[in-house]
Amino acid sequence: MAELVESLRVEVDRYSVGGKLPSSRALVERYRVSPVTVSRALAQLAAEGLVVTRPGAGVFRAAPRTALPAAGDTSWQEVALSAEGAGDVVPRSVDASGVLASLAAPPPGVIELNGGYLHPSLQPERAMAAALARAGRRPGAWGRPPVEGLPELRDWFAREIGGAVAAADVLVTAGGQSALATALRALAPPGAPILVESPTYPGLLAIARASGCRPVPVPVDAEGVRPELLAAAFEATGARVFVCQPLFQNPTGAVLAPGRRAEVLRIARAAGAFVVEDDYARALAHEDSGPLPATLAAEDADGVVVHVRSLTKATSPSLRVGALAARGPVRDRLRAIQVVDSFFVPRPLQEAALELVGAPAWPRHLRTVAAELRHRRDVLAAALRRELPAFALPHLPRGGYQLWVRPAGGDESAFVATALRSGVAVAPGRPYFCAEPPAPYVRLSFAGVSGPAELVEAVQRIGGVLPAVGAHPA
Ligand SMILES: Cc1ncc(COP(=O)(O)O)c(C=O)c1O
Repeated sequence: MAELVESLRVEVDRYSVGGKLPSSRALVERYRVSPVTVSRALAQLAAEGLVVTRPGAGVFRAAPRTALPAAGDTSWQEVALSAEGAGDVVPRSVDASGVLASLAAPPPGVIELNGGYLHPSLQPERAMAAALARAGRRPGAWGRPPVEGLPELRDWFAREIGGAVAAADVLVTAGGQSALATALRALAPPGAPILVESPTYPGLLAIARASGCRPVPVPVDAEGVRPELLAAAFEATGARVFVCQPLFQNPTGAVLAPGRRAEVLRIARAAGAFVVEDDYARALAHEDSGPLPATLAAEDADGVVVHVRSLTKATSPSLRVGALAARGPVRDRLRAIQVVDSFFVPRPLQEAALELVGAPAWPRHLRTVAAELRHRRDVLAAALRRELPAFALPHLPRGGYQLWVRPAGGDESAFVATALRSGVAVAPGRPYFCAEPPAPYVRLSFAGVSGPAELVEAVQRIGGVLPAVGAHPA
């Protein structure tokens, strides 16, 4: 189609404004392409403003755009955007770089070991297309949904979350990121401290800083957050919120140990604080994970937990449907914030999500992902041990899509830059810490590549250049 668009662009140029192009049928014959291709090419030219389509009359050359007004001087904005009111205790800073790292497409030829989502070949593309088509035909698909979300979808999320969580406790959100933003805004006023795991997901730190809150790190070890340090952090800061990923923590892959779960809830309850449970990776458990622990929300009697869930990680970053679940008065606060910010999640997307999770292909898809992630994890870990034996690989997770490793040599930035020069994008560890990191780290994601062969190739590329920075003793 790109060729046809190019040819038509040249052809349109020869017409005077208002001149009529040949009929679609004539174009089909002349360029020997299908009618669909012709209509798509014409639609693209119309979108570019080169032609106008008058139904029943034909396609005509459009009038050229009038000259753009002269660009003014926008430098005053630098002052306006930084001139915070004197009352702000914690300056707000909006920095999307930590989030964009996992959303941006890598440069051509670069292997993406920093992706945060499944490679298209692992996404349930056919099932999603079918779900979207069926959703579009549902009666009322383009109508207003209830602001809290479709009742059947809320019910599905409630069953997934478990325990005493009911459909009425669930608010459908536009994925996990927006759920986390709503939760933090509901629970912490600007200037407030927010306890976060250290290390943690940079997108969470970005939300905290953008809302003028102060993230305070609480270290995580192989068994999840350390309860004695959590208690100390509550006492030292008076925080009312702790954000926790009890299952396959991003980036460490740690699972909160059984003995620590009740303790975390008890400590938060004693501090009069909420625990925001970001359960981002439940659908990314590996085939060998064994039975998964319940959600913290399912074990929480007193409404301490505000639970965050999302469908994107096991499907596509564009299926932006997730949930917030909470009990008690906080539920109304969450709902009010979401309604004021964005009204509700588009109904066609909610209908599509419902179609997808109810389809027979859904459990099959989850099994495929579980098997593939396990295989990729093992292939990547084996390649690291073989090609980069000086790397410290402390923990092999049984869920999620990343390995959290310590580069030999100790210079994280040099390692990331060298890897990129060799054609591999990896995520530096620094953005995962909200204060000084205890050591250099990098995060290697195995979800975003096309397959295991690319993982091996990536590690070989890095191994081939590492001596250049002296980071890899022979
Ligand atoms: C730990 C964690 N939570 C939440 C999110 C947000 O994802 P989404 O908004 O696509 O659900 C991410 C994405 O990378 C994540 O890693």
